[in-house]
Amino acid sequence: MDATGCTIRFLLNGAPHEVAGVDPHTTLLQYLREHLQWVGTKEGCAEGDCGACTVVIGELDDNGEVSINPINACIRLLPTLDGKAVFTVESLASKDALHPVQQAIVNCHGSQCGFCTPGFVMALFALFKNEAAPSRERVCEAIAGNLCRCTGYRPILDAAQMMYSLTEANDTAADWMRAPATCNAKHDGNEILATAIRQLRRNVSLDYVANGVRFIAPKSVDEFSALVATNPSAWILGGGTDIGLWVTKALQTNATIIYTGEIAALRAIVENDDAITIGATVSLDVAFRAMNRIYPELAHVWTRFASWPIRTSGTLGGNVANGSPIGDSMPALIALDAKVALRKGNEKRVIPLESLYIDYKKQSRAAGEWVEAIVLPKRKALAGSGNDGNLRIGFYKNSKRNEQDISAVCAAIAIRVEGDVVVHCRIAFGGMAGIPKRALHTEASLIGKAWSEENIRVAMNVMARDYAPMSDMRASAEYRMQVAQNHLLRFWFESQGEAVGLMEARVF
Ligand SMILES: Cc1cc2nc3c(=O)[nH]c(=O)nc-3n(C[C@H](O)[C@H](O)[C@H](O)COP(=O)(O)OP(=O)(O)OC[C@H]3O[C@@H](n4cnc5c(N)ncnc54)[C@H](O)[C@@H]3O)c2cc1C
Ligand code: FES
Ligand code: FES
Repeated sequence: MDATGCTIRFLLNGAPHEVAGVDPHTTLLQYLREHLQWVGTKEGCAEGDCGACTVVIGELDDNGEVSINPINACIRLLPTLDGKAVFTVESLASKDALHPVQQAIVNCHGSQCGFCTPGFVMALFALFKNEAAPSRERVCEAIAGNLCRCTGYRPILDAAQMMYSLTEANDTAADWMRAPATCNAKHDGNEILATAIRQLRRNVSLDYVANGVRFIAPKSVDEFSALVATNPSAWILGGGTDIGLWVTKALQTNATIIYTGEIAALRAIVENDDAITIGATVSLDVAFRAMNRIYPELAHVWTRFASWPIRTSGTLGGNVANGSPIGDSMPALIALDAKVALRKGNEKRVIPLESLYIDYKKQSRAAGEWVEAIVLPKRKALAGSGNDGNLRIGFYKNSKRNEQDISAVCAAIAIRVEGDVVVHCRIAFGGMAGIPKRALHTEASLIGKAWSEENIRVAMNVMARDYAPMSDMRASAEYRMQVAQNHLLRFWFESQGEAVGLMEARVF
């Protein structure tokens, strides 16, 4: 590996930009506003929740194509931008005309106080560059991470649909920024941007030191694993959507930060007949799409997992390694019998995901041991006999708000019924214990029994032996228990063809 002394290099609104001497804990938002005095990007919550700080990043995917995504600048550590392109709201300005996204916001009266507007504009810009004709539902999903307190969302949604009609046909050849997704594939601007990003590529790993803090972005799994083994108290940084808050809210620091984002091998998704293996740094967005291909029953909850910017930055490995009792991927993964591949130095082991979690903030991972991949069995492997037609899956999330909210309760149920009898049953919950946890007593009460409402009601009572949930600001213990039991009943009604889910369950 290179000696220290690297600078951070990225494209900022199209121009090469180099940073030295800035503490690696600095967020992109702090850098823009406090170091460059670029104040177009706003700070609202500083925790990824409001979208006021949304900017767009461009990077090369593993096929060498440019991918464009929105991110929350407030929780994105500056060194993670090395080798990427950053576009802020200032990049949309032109001396001749507003950008089509901006013009549409004006035409539709989509801004009053304007504080949220730069964030909305950049979220819509990301949509403009990614999708040619998004439905209203898709637009809602794309701006679910942006809050507006005074305009209201209808004019902003209107603007999202109008923006495509404000591009001039001849703009698209000359100006990549104004070229919508419709012509992305062939657009010269994509190749120009890809070439500029390629020129930032390093042959050696980034090893950046400032203010006594070292930020290392190894390129190979071996290098990463050796670094983690020899620096067990260093932060392993994935997408930073949890760690970013340790910095901005808990004011924590660490003398060594080891970033997973430059290790191409950890971004791989490998599929065989029995399982799909998702590398730890696969983004939540990409991981969810891969999982949805096999388990479409999960898709509706994934759209309620945080927001588009969080899902493109955050990783599946980060969710699993963080192991929050209210994390959303673990209940589904545990109910579907997923395994987690762990590594320490050169030693590897694969364990059932549920056995990673011992107690609140306590895991069976040794110091220096890290998450390499998540292995999700396919339907056939899960169904045992090979008849996956009998496999039935339920996945439910309760939160106070439909969009961008943390779960009070998250339920995942997988059963197989043969004839009338339950032959396979795995149930896991988030929000019901200090860890994501299986309902072992409930499962046992159902296996081998007839699939009937009567037996479901017995199992609902048994659930009280599996969990002693806590009361907190999200929900009371009584509410949690009742809603968890009711999910079982709902799942039974749905198995009888009844549409119980007209309204996605929320905490009222
Ligand atoms: C606004 C907002 C909304 C959110 N909404 C949700 C939600 O709806 N549901 C939900 O479940 N979560 C939610 N989260 C939490 C967060 O987005 C997820 O937990 C995410 O998956 C974390 O991944 P990351 O890559 O960003 O992790 P990071 O922040 O980089 O790391 C998280 C933890 O995992 C460790 N880690 C990361 N990668 C590895 C690895 N390969 N091996 C070992 N340790 C590793 C880190 O050291 C750290 O302890 C939300 C967060 C925010 C800010
Ligand atoms: S400031 Fe609220 S999401 Fe960044
Ligand atoms: S315009 Fe005021 S918060 Fe959105």
